[in-house]
Amino acid sequence: MTTNAKTEFLTVTRQAFEEQTFIQLTLSKPANSELEYKSIYFKPFQAKSGYRMQCVKRFPTKDITKNLSTSEGLALIEKLLGEELLNGNLFAQGNDWELRFNRKREAKIWKRKASKQQAATLVHNVQKKQWIKPEGNIYLKALGITSAKGKVLDKKYDKYRQINKYIETISHLLDKSSLRNGYRIVDMGSGKGYLTFALYDYLLNTMNIKPKITGVELRGELVDHCNNISNEAGYEGLVFRTGRIEEYPVTTMDMLIALHACDIATDHAIAKGIQAGASVIVCAPCCHKQVRIDMVGSPLFQPMLKHGILLERQAEMLTDAIRALLLEANGYKTKVFEFISSDHTGKNVMITAVRSPKARSRETVLYEIAQLKQQFGLKTHFLETLI
Ligand SMILES: C[S@@+](CC[C@H](N)C(=O)[O-])C[C@H]1O[C@@H](n2cnc3c(N)ncnc32)[C@H](O)[C@@H]1O
Repeated sequence: MTTNAKTEFLTVTRQAFEEQTFIQLTLSKPANSELEYKSIYFKPFQAKSGYRMQCVKRFPTKDITKNLSTSEGLALIEKLLGEELLNGNLFAQGNDWELRFNRKREAKIWKRKASKQQAATLVHNVQKKQWIKPEGNIYLKALGITSAKGKVLDKKYDKYRQINKYIETISHLLDKSSLRNGYRIVDMGSGKGYLTFALYDYLLNTMNIKPKITGVELRGELVDHCNNISNEAGYEGLVFRTGRIEEYPVTTMDMLIALHACDIATDHAIAKGIQAGASVIVCAPCCHKQVRIDMVGSPLFQPMLKHGILLERQAEMLTDAIRALLLEANGYKTKVFEFISSDHTGKNVMITAVRSPKARSRETVLYEIAQLKQQFGLKTHFLETLI
């Protein structure tokens, strides 16, 4: 039954491809909760070299797209289905097909009336999705990312890519949070505002939400510059304030952002987010002086930590690991990941936290923090002193 059901599903998939009636195929439901990606979908497209499959692997914070030949695509579907992913849904012109494996790996197949009637998209857009459109974009031009004609300048392409990646990450995060209507956002250490503007633009113009975003920045000249651009762009809900993060009052906020705020400024920002009960906290740490100076490390680690660069990396890991754990101890589910390739910037670690009733037990997390601190001879992590 199991083999037959899977074989039948693969046969109808192959036929749909050969007859060019294939619209989309989705594999979902990870067999193992440790699997890093959640689902994968396949769409056909007509390339110069012939009919091919676009395969998009969906991770919690990003999508990875690959183009495969038909045979590579079919082989991948055969390999994953029933092994890594337990559900398969084929949408074809004519019929939908569903294959489901249960935990004992027994499969059942269903044939249904087609739910997607449109022809498969055969025109393939080789360009990656642009989350932020450069054309006619006032702030990108004012910030020197695009030319007067709205083209991304060659030397600013990395920055533009970073902006897009950031918006992609936030978009996935918002899908997962319970944040629906409240979009009061504070961006601490907003600097020149590239990412602050992009987020406002995305929420307003793509999501059709009217957010209220406040950028907080130490340097008055940057604040004035950003406010001028915001006025020029007509972004009524986006303002920048001069001030220190640590002195910013704990106001009601739904989302706290702190990207590359220096050293303990990141801790001050996280603490404000937690104290304000923000549903979502996003930070990309910058330098990590406090833990590096305070960490003693057991003699066991000395052969490793006697090298300055390794000490620095270890301090970074410890700093950010404890930040993520402290967020967990305060009711958040967290992720720590590289949000843009290290080819573009070394400061590419991002910590995201979404408030969740399913957050881990505070006691367990505090115990883990205590253990880590003990191993590395760290008396205090600065964030602990704030919350
Ligand atoms: C490296 S920039 C990052 C700018 C922006 N968030 C980004 O990622 O593109 C860090 C900014 O944080 C500001 N900053 C650092 N410490 C701060 C503090 N304690 N209060 C307010 N702003 C601070 C700096 O002036 C600088 O503009």
